Amino acid sequence: MRNFNETTITDAVLERLAGARDARIKQVSAALVRHLHAFVREVRPTQQEWEYGIDFLTRTGQMCDDKRQEFILLSDTLGVSMLVDAINHPVPEGATETTVLGPFFVQAAPERANGDDISGPMKGDPLLVTGSVSSADGAPLAGAVVDVWHSDDDGYYDVQRLEQIGDLAMRARFHTDGDGRFHFWSIKPAAYPIPNDGPVGDMLAAQGRHPWRPAHVHFMISAPGFERLVTHVFVAGDQYLDSDVVFGVKDSLIRDFARCPPGRAPDGRMVAQGYFHLNYDFGLKRLAARANRV
Ligand code: BEZ
Ligand code: FE
Repeated sequence: MRNFNETTITDAVLERLAGARDARIKQVSAALVRHLHAFVREVRPTQQEWEYGIDFLTRTGQMCDDKRQEFILLSDTLGVSMLVDAINHPVPEGATETTVLGPFFVQAAPERANGDDISGPMKGDPLLVTGSVSSADGAPLAGAVVDVWHSDDDGYYDVQRLEQIGDLAMRARFHTDGDGRFHFWSIKPAAYPIPNDGPVGDMLAAQGRHPWRPAHVHFMISAPGFERLVTHVFVAGDQYLDSDVVFGVKDSLIRDFARCPPGRAPDGRMVAQGYFHLNYDFGLKRLAARANRV
């Protein structure tokens, strides 16, 4: 077959997929070709625009290394990450809703004991975080692993300022106690712009969009027999809740970070200055019986 034109090229490419041995690869490849060709037919790019698109994707790849994943940022800012999340995480009654992981999770966060202060050298408004982990039907889960991480009050994560602060801070791994509860002290996080010094930042500017995320605390919670929960809790009243650049906000994840006067805090600690208190009770979804697909 030869002499393809605007009307015949799509079917010609689809026919070329007939020999794909893996049915899923065949399905995904065919959908990619159909949608990509439909996109090009709709947009009718000039040769120069096509070259710009290739250059944009090249720069996106070149920006990626072990610390920066510009393609995930592109997926996040185009709403694709939250769409994939929505498809894969239907939430039953009693289970906590999920949201994006983001680029600032660190595998080997320091293990800390309940009640510890994880703010390290960072200055800011003290924040007490209390919470519980249970199954979606309300049974407390003892020994659940609770990873937490958040930004400082200038909107930076520790990993963005390691040279200045010297060590990880505002992140830790806790275990729930016998009643499924955990608590720790830190500082209140601020809203922040996602890294916007690369092609994704250029794209946001060209689209007339701001790069900000509303203030939040990240949680990743695991317990045997339950789906791992990846989520955040957002600060009520934040100005970016309705325009999060990565579309990650859900009403059920917004909480009042209550302003409290100096005195005895709910964990029994005497606090000399005012502080904020966040409480969130998480519900985990039981793992479905093992699916056949790998
Ligand atoms: C974050 O919340 O850490 C984040 C999520 C998506 C993109 C950039 C940052
Ligand atoms: Fe974040």
